[in-house]
Amino acid sequence: MQNSSDELIDCWKSSPFPSMKVTSYFSVYANLFEHLRGTNCTFIETGILDGGSLHMWRNWLGSEARIIGIDLNPEAEKWRDAGFEIYIGDQGDPKFWEACLKKIGKFDVLLDDGGHQSFQQIITVIEALKAANDRCLIVVEDTHSCFMNEFSNHGRYSFLEYCKAATDCILGRAFPIYPKQFPLFHNKDQINFFKSVLSIQFYTSIVAFHVDPKASIVPELCSNKAKGPASDFRYQGKNNAILSWPNIYRNKVIKVNGGRASFFKKLASLPAKINLKIFNS
Ligand SMILES: C[S@@+](CC[C@H](N)C(=O)[O-])C[C@H]1O[C@@H](n2cnc3c(N)ncnc32)[C@H](O)[C@@H]1O
Repeated sequence: MQNSSDELIDCWKSSPFPSMKVTSYFSVYANLFEHLRGTNCTFIETGILDGGSLHMWRNWLGSEARIIGIDLNPEAEKWRDAGFEIYIGDQGDPKFWEACLKKIGKFDVLLDDGGHQSFQQIITVIEALKAANDRCLIVVEDTHSCFMNEFSNHGRYSFLEYCKAATDCILGRAFPIYPKQFPLFHNKDQINFFKSVLSIQFYTSIVAFHVDPKASIVPELCSNKAKGPASDFRYQGKNNAILSWPNIYRNKVIKVNGGRASFFKKLASLPAKINLKIFNS
């Protein structure tokens, strides 16, 4: 029996119009979007070109799906005749997104296969996050463009660097757990901006933002019982490690130091407002 990814490949091959993809994408798409097959989902793709992928999505997702294409090229309007909803505009322009997403309303997926420049990918994610009030996926493909000369090799302000920094911001909602231990000054605006993002998933050349406002709760410390008698040995082992740091350009061996037990003991003895929820059975 064929799996969902193989079926998607078949839909891609049998699309009546050209579409260029990357072989590793099909299983990722199947993994991310399978739950929408046969439903009346709203699926947006930025980047239409020859229209091949619009037909692939319709065949794979089913006739109930609302498939929307976005492109800067006004000629793409012709795909309306084939039953697709088409919007013409520049994905690098926040105003375009604001107006377009207002017209579209609630969406399940926004897949970006458009201009591939970092600023366009970032604006797309920012504006989609602003518009998304419900559970949905914002997915950007061809993120290898961040390293490509053709797209001006975006360096420290590449889309991928933006995504990595955003993972810190989704963690930032945990800072109130230990008020004294995290940096006193942190960017509450950015932490708040990503408040509905449950996770950010990195694949080869694809990044998926899982938006789920209900599941993205503010974390609280909890324990199933009052404190037990065991001693915590956390600072008794080795206090550093020499290791290879992941770096795409060169080998980098570094020393990672551990915390200072005496400092933390002193800090722990200071009165702090820690809210610990105890759930007794
Ligand atoms: C890689 S092609 C899309 C391929 C298509 N998704 C497929 O798989 O068959 C990229 C498309 O993005 C469009 N594009 C480029 N820059 C854009 C921008 N700033 N805003 C909207 N669309 C853009 C191009 O006109 C082109 O049609």
